[in-house]
Amino acid sequence: MFALKRVLRTSIPSLKRIGSILPIISYFSVKKPTVSVNFITSEKEKIIVEGEIGKTILQIAHENKIGLEGACEGGVACGTCHVIFEESMFKKLKPPTQREEDTLDLVFNVQPTSRLACQVLLTKELENANIILPKSTRNIYVGGAKPKIH
Ligand code: FES
Repeated sequence: MFALKRVLRTSIPSLKRIGSILPIISYFSVKKPTVSVNFITSEKEKIIVEGEIGKTILQIAHENKIGLEGACEGGVACGTCHVIFEESMFKKLKPPTQREEDTLDLVFNVQPTSRLACQVLLTKELENANIILPKSTRNIYVGGAKPKIH
């Protein structure tokens, strides 16, 4: 009986501590809103994925093992995250920065609705967007080398 009282006495303060961190734990475990987007591979295969709003298209592609490289990991330097949007969805995107446009200028087979997936954030407006993966990409920033103008 004495031992039980001692256990209860020592464990009650720790239970109070757990109670005080529960709101913090539940804050971080709240499921964030998501939308569904379609990646269209170069073989015309449609891969439907669910992505968290606020993440980049590149992050969502990597989380779902979509074959989109992203060699500079969002540094806007390589162009290997090149994707093409349908015009209706392209119009809903925030315009590219000058830096993104400069990198897109060097991307292979760029289209009027091309974007860098590392620079496009997933929003509610992109629900059911078709994100087309180009047939090939070229890393314009291999090993830190800067492309030279000829
Ligand atoms: S990951 Fe390199 S430009 Fe987007």
